[in-house]
Amino acid sequence: MLLELRDLSVSYGKAVALEQVSLHVAEGELVAVLGPNGAGKSTLLKAVSRSQASTGTLELRGESLHGYPAHAVVGKGICHCPEGRRLFPELSVLKNLMLGAYLRHDKVEVAADLATIYGLFPILRERSSQQVGTLSGGQQQMVAIGRALMGKPSLLLLDEPSVGIAHKLKIEIFDAIRRIQQGGVAILMAEQDAQSALRIADRVYVLEHGQVGREGTAAELRADDAIRQAYLGVD
Ligand SMILES: Nc1ncnc2c1ncn2[C@@H]1O[C@H](COP(=O)(O)OP(=O)(O)O)[C@@H](O)[C@H]1O
Ligand SMILES: [Mg+2]
Repeated sequence: MLLELRDLSVSYGKAVALEQVSLHVAEGELVAVLGPNGAGKSTLLKAVSRSQASTGTLELRGESLHGYPAHAVVGKGICHCPEGRRLFPELSVLKNLMLGAYLRHDKVEVAADLATIYGLFPILRERSSQQVGTLSGGQQQMVAIGRALMGKPSLLLLDEPSVGIAHKLKIEIFDAIRRIQQGGVAILMAEQDAQSALRIADRVYVLEHGQVGREGTAAELRADDAIRQAYLGVD
C-alpha cells in the first residue's frame, strides 16, 4: 500500500481534531476526503505531510513516517498543496513554481516537469514572469498545485483546491487533477465541494467531527441517499 493510516489521532491541546482515523491510498489512486468545515480534513493532510504531530500508524509503503520531519517527507515523495495556497505573492509564477523543486538536482527532469505543468495549465506559461499576487484565485490555485508537482510527488496532498474559485476555472482545475492522476501520481484530496470531488475520485472517505463516518467508492457514495441530501443538495 502506498499510504496507510491506522487509528491515527491528532489533538490540539485538549481538543481532539482527529480520532482513530483509518484510511489508505493505493499507488496511482485518487482518494477524496469530504466533510464540512472543522471536520478535520486539513488536520489529516497535515498529519500525513508531518507538519502536524499525530499518534497511531502512519506508513508510506510500509515504512513509518513518524520519524521524519516535514522537510524529509517531501524527499520521500509526498508533496502538500496546503489550505490557503501559501504562495509568495511578490514573486513571479516561475519563481513560485521553482520553489517546489528546491530539493531536486535533476535539472533536465525539473525542466521537463515544468513543461508538463505548463501543459496542464497553459495560462501559467503565458504569465510566467507575472507576480503571483496579481493573478485570479483560480490561477493562484494552479500555481499552488504546480509548485507541489515540482517536488515530483508519488503522493500529492491537495487541500480544498476548489475554494474561492469561479465555476469555469474549477472545472479546469478538477480536469487537471484527474490528468495528474492519469500521469501516475496518487492523490489524497480534501474537499467540501462533494459534487466535483465525487466526479473525479476513485474512493471517498467522509469525515465527521474527526472520525470517518462513511467510506466507499465514489459511485457508491453518489448513489447514497444520505450523502446526496447532506452533501450534494439533492433529495
Ligand atoms: N492549530 C490549531 N489549533 C487548535 N485547533 C485547531 C488548529 N487547527 C485546527 N483546529 C481545530 O481542529 C478541528 C479540525 O480543523 P481542520 O482540520 O482545519 O478541519 P477542516 O479542514 O475539515 O475544516 C477544528 O475544530 C479546528 O478548529
Ligand atoms: Mg481545511
